[in-house]
Amino acid sequence: MKICKTISELIVWRNESLTRNIGFIPTMGALHQGHLSLVRQSKNTCQKTIVSIFVNKLQFSPEEDFDNYPRTLEADLGALKLLKVDVVFLPNKQEMYNENFSVVVNELKIAQKLEGASRPGFFSGVTTVVSKLFNLVRPSHAFFGKKDIQQLVVIKKMVKDLNYNINVVGCETIRESCGLAMSSRNKYLSNTEKEEASILYRALKLGAQMLSDQTNINHIKSKMEELIIENNKIKIDYLSIAQLNTFEELEQPVYDKKCKTVISGAIFLNNIRLIDNILI
Ligand code: PAJ
Repeated sequence: MKICKTISELIVWRNESLTRNIGFIPTMGALHQGHLSLVRQSKNTCQKTIVSIFVNKLQFSPEEDFDNYPRTLEADLGALKLLKVDVVFLPNKQEMYNENFSVVVNELKIAQKLEGASRPGFFSGVTTVVSKLFNLVRPSHAFFGKKDIQQLVVIKKMVKDLNYNINVVGCETIRESCGLAMSSRNKYLSNTEKEEASILYRALKLGAQMLSDQTNINHIKSKMEELIIENNKIKIDYLSIAQLNTFEELEQPVYDKKCKTVISGAIFLNNIRLIDNILI
């Protein structure tokens, strides 16, 4: 497994890689089975697989957990080596953002909603870094998790609108046995807290079930909310029932097979922010 710590090393590798299918998985490290499932999909689809690990400060707001974000580089490299990843790209902050850095990439519609509304600057940081990584790696395929569904839709829109010739593959959410979606931030939670946090997934499932036989979206949302706030340690950031492609809130259920519905939510458990979603 080759490790590239600089952009110039990566460019040398890329210029020598003549294979048609190169699969790319951008990550911020602290790898878990969710990340590794994306790597496995790439290994199954592409001739070469490259993973980047870069904790991207640009997508954290000043009051968020950039300094404390879990960093487990040795374990990450061990896991990637076992999966026979070809290249790991580990740029540092100076490589990615020199002091005169002044150009960003912004999606202007979907990125304003839900996660974008709660975390100003987040999607701008994501689209900027992913765009830079796409330009450097020049992959044929890029693998993203449906766990971060709005991120996946924003990236697909960026690829379409900016004419990247990249096939963006959305991969299923991997969960703990209690139902909690795996996340690097779960490292902040005790086992009891993980059980407690899994109420978000149960509330999303309740919403999905109610949506199949009820039309009053506000009633469904209030039942989901009631279930979650039974635990007074949990605060709800948002609960949403929206159209997948636009993230516009639905006023009534949609019965169009072409247009998926996404039920999503963000909660705080002891100040740790967790998100999840279900697609219908
Ligand atoms: P990170 O949170 O490290 O996630 C990297 C990739 O793993 C994302 O595509 C994410 O959706 C996917 N992923 C995370 N948890 C998952 C789970 N439980 N099941 C399936 N896939 C999962 O997302 C980012 O990093 C950053 O925003 C990044 C795209 C790297 C830009 O900095």
